[in-house]
Amino acid sequence: MSISKIGVVGAGTMGNGIAQVAAQAGLKVILVDIEQSFIEKGMKNIVKNWDKDLKKGKISEEQKAAFEGNITTSVDKSALSDCDLVVEAIIENIDIKKQLFKELNDICAPETIIATNTSGFSITEIAAASGRPAKVVGTHFFNPVPVMRLVEVIPGEETSRETVAAAMEFCKIIGKTAIEAKEAPGFIVNRLLVPYLNDACHAFGEGVASAKDIDEAMKLGANMPIGPLALCDLVGIDVLLMVTEYFFKEFGDPKFRPALAMKQKVRAGHLGGKTGKGFYDYSK
Ligand code: CAA
Repeated sequence: MSISKIGVVGAGTMGNGIAQVAAQAGLKVILVDIEQSFIEKGMKNIVKNWDKDLKKGKISEEQKAAFEGNITTSVDKSALSDCDLVVEAIIENIDIKKQLFKELNDICAPETIIATNTSGFSITEIAAASGRPAKVVGTHFFNPVPVMRLVEVIPGEETSRETVAAAMEFCKIIGKTAIEAKEAPGFIVNRLLVPYLNDACHAFGEGVASAKDIDEAMKLGANMPIGPLALCDLVGIDVLLMVTEYFFKEFGDPKFRPALAMKQKVRAGHLGGKTGKGFYDYSK
């Protein structure tokens, strides 16, 4: 199957990153969200990244204009009707995702592949709700999307091999390395990374050290590119809490118990960089 036009549903952190890399790869992209203000925020971030690349001499004015010309936006999902592939990157809530997939099944052409960027939910469950399970697949990107090279491709129980092959091809087109993973909570990366971040929040909550010292320790003592609490802020503490709660429920193992410090940040609305405050203050 040839992929030339893709849809991205959700203009947030992950969605705008996916739209950016696809547009850079020469694909036509339609970026959809429920509110114009969300689209504007997402587009602002994409253009900011291209402006930085322009300043660094990584791209030319002409390339920037061509990339921008590859993206159109809409608050109307019916704009996705003629896409070869649609990537869903909305809030990490399985009921909302299932409802969206049902709607997308009615909107999109029967041959359209619908991919979910879920951080760890069951692809089979989302696919079953869609009414086209053979055409649904997980494509899990990493934050920041323009920088991180991996995409996990996850087939559900009924996903066809053609759909998996098309998802792998899509990743190749946009310059990412795809790894196929079996469906299991968190797939590969989050299965290992999220418990580590949750443990960092437990350590912080228990007063083992300050946020800065926990991060410094992991950077200097384990050669991590970024400390765990700064990474929580980058990913979004709300996203991590939802994933951790899902692991706790799905595995039934107390080792996945969400840290109180993580819950408290979410209750306070301090979700990380995207709200200006998390374990660190980004407002200044
Ligand atoms: N968007 C686009 N580009 C970005 C960026 C962003 N948000 N943040 C940084 N970059 C770019 C910079 O522009 C810079 O580019 P150049 O090399 O062209 O100059 C490059 O990345 C390096 O950035 P910095 O020098 O500013 O900072 P750094 O060296 O500390 O790198 C980082 C920043 C790339 C985020 C690095 O800290 C890192 O790799 N961290 C780990 C990130 C990670 O683990 N992500 C996975 C999270 S889990 C997830 O996403 C899955 C999930 O479901 C929860």
